[in-house]
Amino acid sequence: MADAKLQMFENRLLKVYKHKNKLAKRQGIDCFRIYDHDLPEFPFCIELYENKIYLAEYLRRHGMDEEEHEAWLEKCIDIIRKIIEVKDENIYIKQRKRKTNRHDQYEKTANKKDFFVVEENGLKFLINLTDYLDTGLFLDHRITRKMVMEQSEGKRVLNLFAYTGSFSVYAAAGKATSVTTVDLSKTYIQWAEDNFTINLLKDKNKYSFIHADVKQYLKTLQPNSVDLVIMDPPTFSNSKRMKDFLDIQQDHVTLLNDVLHALSPNGVIYFSTNYTKFIIDAENIKASSIKDITKATTPFDFEGKLKRWCYKISC
Ligand SMILES: C[S@@+](CC[C@H](N)C(=O)[O-])C[C@H]1O[C@@H](n2cnc3c(N)ncnc32)[C@H](O)[C@@H]1O
Repeated sequence: MADAKLQMFENRLLKVYKHKNKLAKRQGIDCFRIYDHDLPEFPFCIELYENKIYLAEYLRRHGMDEEEHEAWLEKCIDIIRKIIEVKDENIYIKQRKRKTNRHDQYEKTANKKDFFVVEENGLKFLINLTDYLDTGLFLDHRITRKMVMEQSEGKRVLNLFAYTGSFSVYAAAGKATSVTTVDLSKTYIQWAEDNFTINLLKDKNKYSFIHADVKQYLKTLQPNSVDLVIMDPPTFSNSKRMKDFLDIQQDHVTLLNDVLHALSPNGVIYFSTNYTKFIIDAENIKASSIKDITKATTPFDFEGKLKRWCYKISC
């Protein structure tokens, strides 16, 4: 590829890095997204986790053979290293496939067990940049997590599709009376428990971790048994461990109505979805109010780039 294009990449990266780094420093944030597919010919997602860079390349038809592609990638990495100034061993590269089918979303990719700890708002989170497709902490929900913390005091909090339990940690730190963390993956439930442990959140009477299919789990809940719910499901899910598959466009009304059935009278649900074409079926959801808080929950490093929706739903 011509040097002019690489120069364009360098200029762009320098510009966005300077800008975002300044905003991050101002807000005391050490983990943020720097670049996301800003230039079509450089289809990277670049995130910073304190002193480590996560570089994911979206696969596309680039017309280069393997050797050419490797050489091109090396040049790009040189540029990234020059601008962001991290040590070689702190650059983690992932060739991230576009989600072509429903199965590959949460697959393991390696087995290095290379975990390290980062901090966000004084809380600790285990990150792994080598073994899974995602890192352990979804940076786009930084603001939503803080909202949850600020509203958790004295509440019974339920985190559905919890992944590594980052919302749960925030709720516990916000003095929730109880926090229940539910996910279908044993690995992620263990990761969530580990995140509690490193934050010294140890009260077994208050914190429970449930390995279950949310669809089935919701049917077991009693009315008025939860006050604050976070529900951040995948767009599709069809694990062998589930009775049937989940399609968020089709299933969100049932899921939300099941949660509303279990919610206390002043209860609130934070519902988020990454399905870009999502349309909320407000008419059929038995809530007193549904507020689109996508904009209010978009952090500076995702402005203009966010491909998810977020709603505050009240009982
Ligand atoms: C988008 S992630 C949730 C992200 C999380 N809210 C956060 O901010 O860290 C989706 C999670 O749903 C889990 N999952 C998928 N299908 C499920 C099901 N039927 N029941 C429970 N969990 C499920 C996956 O294991 C994954 O951890």
